Amino acid sequence: MNTLIQSCINNKFSKTPIWLMRQAGRYLPEFRFIRKENQDFIQLCLNTQLASEITIQPITRFNFDAAIVFSDILLVPYALGQSVNFKKDFGPSLEKIDFKILNDVKKENFLKKLNPVYETIKQTKTKLSSNNKDMIGFVGAPWTLLLYMLNRKSPKEGNFSVFPKDKNINNILMKLDEFLKIHIEAQIKSGASIIQIFDSWAGLLPEKDLEYFVYKPTKSLVDFIKQKKTISICFPRNINSYKKFVDNVNPDIISIDYNVNPLIIRDTIDIPIQGGLDPKILLQSKEAVKKEVTKYLKTFEKKRYIFNLGHGVLPETNPDMVRYLVDEVRSFNGQ
Ligand code: CP3
Repeated sequence: MNTLIQSCINNKFSKTPIWLMRQAGRYLPEFRFIRKENQDFIQLCLNTQLASEITIQPITRFNFDAAIVFSDILLVPYALGQSVNFKKDFGPSLEKIDFKILNDVKKENFLKKLNPVYETIKQTKTKLSSNNKDMIGFVGAPWTLLLYMLNRKSPKEGNFSVFPKDKNINNILMKLDEFLKIHIEAQIKSGASIIQIFDSWAGLLPEKDLEYFVYKPTKSLVDFIKQKKTISICFPRNINSYKKFVDNVNPDIISIDYNVNPLIIRDTIDIPIQGGLDPKILLQSKEAVKKEVTKYLKTFEKKRYIFNLGHGVLPETNPDMVRYLVDEVRSFNGQ
């Protein structure tokens, strides 16, 4: 049976599916309850039983059309031997790259370290299998991972510089290409029907560097996902031209941020589109939510559109507002 997302991308007249980036997270009291008892975030991601429970939490509450595995893009640097910590109110903190370790990573060891993630996908897939819902796996795009690996923390404005396209950078990009494909393949084998590629920091690059850091390495992953007959979604957040990205990378679905004008996207891009709504809207009134939701649904009414946000759900979001959002999207469709 086709899932709602598969029907949507095959037929523009189908109902609009909905899922949200960071749908499992701190805005949910049931997540905070588990998180409180599990201070080490990486170990929580690697606890199959809890990770599967967390993945299902937003499905139980809101009946979203897809589950996204509870994991993190920084598990890849972790499995490549670079330790990662999440400090409260600071975000991720990575140790300095050790090229000796990086160049020696073996596929078996990498897969062994991340095996709990694959088990989470398998277990969760079984729980979802009676429904027509997708199981979404994901990776960080090579550029965003490279940035975290070198910058060792979130690259807030001003605290990162563009890297030279030298041998070291090329070495890391090659390792990422190799191991991201291993990670993608293992997620697909475990039951992921869609892979989303998160390029959260694509918007930091000047136009002239996009080919080297974004288009070429992302296309390599998208082509690999296609070979595996799996759907790819790309989210090159804050990029200047989504149209150029789509022309160069050719994913199955493009996910957009909230800074881009949806009318321009509608009029220039022909592939299925996902997302856009500013997550900050969910901190406002129901009227504001209704107005913005209607704007996106109307704009993309004649296109193949998957409802989502323009970035992740904010931790301070009231779950009742997410309930309202889901109901609005479904009632627009007469569901
Ligand atoms: O979307 C989902 O529900 C699935 C799980 C998921 C997480 N991270 C769980 C998480 C996904 C898809 C991600 C992707 C991710 N992780 C990205 C790309 C998307 C984006 O937000 O731009 C990035 C850049 C990361 C790295 C990362 N992980 C950061 C910068 C942080 C700290 C800041 C923050 O947003 O909380 C995390 C932690 C993290 N990853 C949390 C969750 C639920 C919060 C953990 C907590 O403090 O309880």
